[in-house]
Formats: sequence, C-alpha cells, structure tokens
Amino acid sequence: MTKAMKIAIVDDEKDMRQSISQWLALSGFETEAFASAEEALRIVGPDFAGIVVSDIRMPGMDGMQFLKKLRGVDSALPVIMITGHGDVPMAVEAMRIGAFDFLEKPFNPDRMTELAKKACHARRLTLDNRALRRELSDGSALIQKLMGQSVPMERLKEDILDLGQADGHVLIEGETGTGKTLVAHALHAVGARATKKFVLISCSAYDEATLTRRLFGPADEDEPIPAMEEARGGTLVLEDIESLSQTLQARLLTAINDQGTPAETRIVAICNLQEQDKTCESVLRPDLYYRISALRIVVPPLRQRGEDILTLFTRLSDQFADEYGCDAPQVSAQEAAQLLQAPWPGNVRQLINVAERAVLQNRRGTGSIASLLMADNDDSRPAMTTEGKPLKEFVEAFERMLIDNTMRRHKGSITAVMEELCLPRRTLNEKMAKYTLSRSDYL
Ligand SMILES: Nc1ncnc2c1ncn2[C@@H]1O[C@H](COP(=O)(O)OP(=O)(O)OP(=O)(O)O)[C@@H](O)[C@H]1O
Ligand SMILES: [Mg+2]
Repeated sequence: MTKAMKIAIVDDEKDMRQSISQWLALSGFETEAFASAEEALRIVGPDFAGIVVSDIRMPGMDGMQFLKKLRGVDSALPVIMITGHGDVPMAVEAMRIGAFDFLEKPFNPDRMTELAKKACHARRLTLDNRALRRELSDGSALIQKLMGQSVPMERLKEDILDLGQADGHVLIEGETGTGKTLVAHALHAVGARATKKFVLISCSAYDEATLTRRLFGPADEDEPIPAMEEARGGTLVLEDIESLSQTLQARLLTAINDQGTPAETRIVAICNLQEQDKTCESVLRPDLYYRISALRIVVPPLRQRGEDILTLFTRLSDQFADEYGCDAPQVSAQEAAQLLQAPWPGNVRQLINVAERAVLQNRRGTGSIASLLMADNDDSRPAMTTEGKPLKEFVEAFERMLIDNTMRRHKGSITAVMEELCLPRRTLNEKMAKYTLSRSDYL
C-alpha cells in the first residue's frame, strides 16, 4: 500500500535540476523537475504524496516566497532548500519559515539522498496519520466494520450512535472478544470529539505504580504525558477497568469529579467479564460504578447473534481466502448447524480464528469445521450449547447464508442464482426481502 513518494525538484538552471533529478532517480526516487516555482505549484497541493526540493535564488517567485506559499498549501509538507555557497542568513531564514532542511551548494549527493529519504519518511507518516484520522472521524465507516444485522447487533449500533453523541462517560461491558474495543473506537468516532485525541490504556497491562503515573502523572522523562491530560478534549478508554485497585478506583473517581461539565476528558470504561456470574457492578466501587455507568453499553455475546454467526463466517472466510489466494470453504447444512450451536466462549475473536483455520484446512483439503470447533473448547465447556434453538431459526439462518453465498458468487445475477438454487424469481425476491439481502450489495 505504500505508494512511491514523489520528489518535485524546482530550479531555474536546467543542468542543475537535471542532475539532481537524475541522482535522486538513481537512488530509487520518483522525480519530476520544474523550471519555476509557479510551474511546480500547479501539481503540488495539499496532501501531495511527496516532498519538494527547491533552489532559493530564482527569477520570478524565489525560493523563499515559494516556501511561504507551500507552508500555506500544506504546512506539514517537507521542503528542502538549496542555498548558495556561504549564504548562511538565507539558510537560517529558510529554517525559520519552516523548511525541512537545507543543502549548501555545491552539495554532497549522498547527503541529498539521505535528506530526501528522511523527508519522504516524515511525509509518509503525516499522510498515513491523516488517512487514519479521516477514517476514524468518518464514524459510519467504523460502524460498518461492526458486521452483523441480527436484532442485538442493530440495537448495539443504535446505542453507539445515541451514546456517541450524548458525550457523557460510558461503561462498555461484555465477554472477551465480543468487540468492546471496536465499539469504544466507534463511540469516539461518531461523537463530537471525533477529531480530538483518542487514548487507550489497558489497566491490566501495568503494575500499580506505572499505571498511576501513566494515568495521572507525573510522567518520567521518557514516558508519554499522563493519559488523563493527553486525552483532554477527547476520549480516554480504560480497558479492563475491573483490574483497577481500590486505591486507583478512588483516584479515578476524584479525577472524574474534579472535571467540569461537560467533562474535559470523556471516559469510556471497558469491563471485561470473563466469568459469567460476575457483573461490573459487583467488582467496582459503588461510587465509581455509579459515576461511569449512567450511559452503558452491553456488547452481546456471539452465541446470541443468531444468523450473524454465519454471515460473519462467510465474510471472514472470504477475506482469508483472498489473502491466502485460495477458495473459501463451502459450508454444509450440518456445518452451519454446528456453527450456530457452538458456545463461542471466545466470541468474534474465536470466530475469526476458526474462519482462518477453516480456509487453511480447505486449501490443504483436510479437516472439518466441527473439529475446529471442538479443538477450541476446553473440557469444562460443552462442545455445543445444550439449550436448544428452534429448528426454524437454523433453517432460516442456513437459507439466508445459501442465498447470500450464491448471490456473491454470481455477483448479483438474479437469473444465475434462480437457476442454481432452482427458485422461481418471485420466491427468490421474497426471500431476499425477508433476509434483508439487497441485490445492489453484490454487483
Ligand atoms: N461485529 C464485528 N464485526 C467484525 N469484526 C468484529 C466484530 N466485533 C469484533 N470484531 C473483531 O473481533 C476482534 C475482537 O474484537 P475486540 O478486540 O474489539 O473485542 P474485545 O471485546 O475488546 O476483546 P477483549 O475482551 O479481549 O478486549 C477484533 O479483531 C475486531 O475487529
Ligand atoms: Mg478489548
């Protein structure tokens, strides 16, 4: 995905720009040479995927004016200036305006390559960060990452939209691997703080002293600024809140109470409930629980998401098949029933794992989905849930998956699907409507 960076070289002297261009091209860069700043400005805009190397003394717009102009176009764009021999004041001025660095004529070509490399690296980081920020601030993109259309999932997405905009502290509860961290990201992305800081701290990853410093400071020299401060104006996600000591819970409560309203730092606490019989309420100090649980999201376990299990399995195994360059496994009716009935103690994370291994097995032509499900369950858990589900639910989930798969394979060709499944057009249309499958999604 790392697209090559381009180097725009601007120099009014033909020999000079050609030799720089050739040298950099030899060092593996993509280059484009311009005889004037005006010409270069035609292609160098905001988000320009590259850097600029420019001479300072030029007729028309000179290098200094050009640099100022570029700062206005994209203040993070690295610009390397070439100054005349001994032109120290010029170099100083260029650095003051914000040049990335300067080279004094006549310059050592290796030094030029080295600088270009550094500048391109910095540019790549800037552009990647921007892309990520855009993706994150486009909350809908994140919500779409939450696959599934079952009733509990639709409700979850609505909750995210509602609570994301509400802006109070939030408590997210759910079993391991259900998507709590993903939900925390989505909450931030759909709210008013989307463009502000998102800081995530796993409370179980540090010892008491380190965690205290990491959250509240004072930070040691080589440590990042304390998270409460770093996330000011934005969101602070505290994962595994249940592992906070009593002392730290009290400290956190004080920090929360000391903030004004609206809170400077929005706290999103994630409670990881491994044991089914424990609740977040039972493990946290009542006053802290009360303070952060006014807005609460419960992420449902996978086994309660019915047909989503098959949808996710299909999507994920397609993705892995793409990645490994092989075919996705076809799921038989029996296997579909097994997927639907499995207890999924590891939830979506486990499903991702099973889908990947099913694809690899399929590539080798050995093994079964059932064996994957068995292997994943420790002895203390039944391999399949004992609680029965109505037959109708299985049949419908399987029917939905079959139509979904067939539509995907035929890229939305209704005629081809009718033929393969031996269904009259009207029945197919009715079933697609029933399962909220839309032809336009497959084209
Ligand atoms: N509805 C979903 N659709 C697609 N992918 C999902 C969904 N929910 C979770 N995932 C993926 O499943 C994996 C586990 O999700 P996540 O890490 O958010 O779970 P978690 O509840 O925070 O787990 P833990 O308790 O271990 O912290 C991630 O790779 C995530 O992207
Ligand atoms: Mg998590």
